[in-house]
Amino acid sequence: MDYSLQNHASYIGRPVSELPTPSLILSKPVLERNTQILLDDVKRLGITFRPHVKTLKCTEVTRMMLGDGEHRQIVASTISEIRGALDLVKEGKLDECLYGLPISASALPHLQDLTKSLKIILMIDSEQQIDLLDSFASKSSSTVAWPVFIKIDVGSKRAGMVNDSPSLPKLIQRIESSSSASVHGFYCHAGHSYACRTEDAATAVLQTEVEGVVSAARFLVGGKSERKIVVSVGSTPTAHVVRRLQGVLPEGMELELHAGNYPANDLQQVATSLVEPTQQAVRILADVCSIYPERNEALINAGTVALSKETSEFPGYAVVTDRPQWSVVRMAQEHGILGWADSNQTSRFVEKVGSKSSEGEKIESAFTVGDKVLLYIQHACITAAMHFAYYVVDGDDIVRETWIPWKGW
Ligand SMILES: Cc1ncc(COP(=O)(O)O)c(C=O)c1O
Repeated sequence: MDYSLQNHASYIGRPVSELPTPSLILSKPVLERNTQILLDDVKRLGITFRPHVKTLKCTEVTRMMLGDGEHRQIVASTISEIRGALDLVKEGKLDECLYGLPISASALPHLQDLTKSLKIILMIDSEQQIDLLDSFASKSSSTVAWPVFIKIDVGSKRAGMVNDSPSLPKLIQRIESSSSASVHGFYCHAGHSYACRTEDAATAVLQTEVEGVVSAARFLVGGKSERKIVVSVGSTPTAHVVRRLQGVLPEGMELELHAGNYPANDLQQVATSLVEPTQQAVRILADVCSIYPERNEALINAGTVALSKETSEFPGYAVVTDRPQWSVVRMAQEHGILGWADSNQTSRFVEKVGSKSSEGEKIESAFTVGDKVLLYIQHACITAAMHFAYYVVDGDDIVRETWIPWKGW
């Protein structure tokens, strides 16, 4: 059994330096600032908002992302996340969830069960999924059509149909004539926006997202009725520039923004240059266990399963927060190796937040066995998924709350 999962509450009121290691620290002031920025942006634009809960997967952050019930719909990537979010349905703050993976046969019975508690929307990107829904409906004698988003691939080549595929109008036709599904809207997720390095580049991807879903939605013109079609766009980098959105949507379409990583941020987001290093809410605490002056390295007790193997333009797998020239340069399952790994990105980081280190520093001057180090991580979604309890700190790094994420699938 994970030690933090059993003992987390006993650390409330204590400083970060006293926590067990490795452990995940969440800064509540940073989380609150990050979520409020996006809530303000969508309010100013007058568009709807659907946070993705997959990054920090817990009631407290989801409630914060929803603006405490100001927005009432989420995207989830696992059934476990939807089950976890049912607490917010009970609180009267959540009505609707999009299951964000293209629908699978195994998920359907669970989702059907969840429709007793909230409205479930499915993601569709293949005609064969309508066969699946038809067959499920005939077996379960269900007569209710599932509301569906049709997933459009705007360049990330993960899920979705490209707009110029002849299969897209066929799929729309098929749904229009099916009794087991009805079109709720069109959805895209520009995962490739993580490669953007400027506001202009992210704005261009955001524009591509909007054009992608709007032109797909045009296939419905002249369709069944006067209903409103939702066009849903977003990813954290494009959400970070959503305030730059311009233009008017064709009549009958409602614009929705979705995003998930933005409350946390991480080195991948800092690498886009759309957020500052100080906007990262997640850090990992680890112990320095050994020092190797001959190779100018140290060993810490946070390895692959505490940090993840994600990378970015920042060197290594994690960066020491107050000495960003030192990063985790190699890892084994439970070991991380700290090494000197300066880069252009690190210099930008040092300019913004400073560093206790200077060029040519020796490992034995920087760290001593028994030290605790705090690390910024590359990709919060993956790192957070490996921790069983989050230690939530105030601006002085004192633990004020502990939150338990929804694990598994
Ligand atoms: C379908 C879908 N929507 C939204 C998101 C949220 O993206 P981000 O974390 O970049 O905000 C993801 C993330 O993977 C996703 O898969």
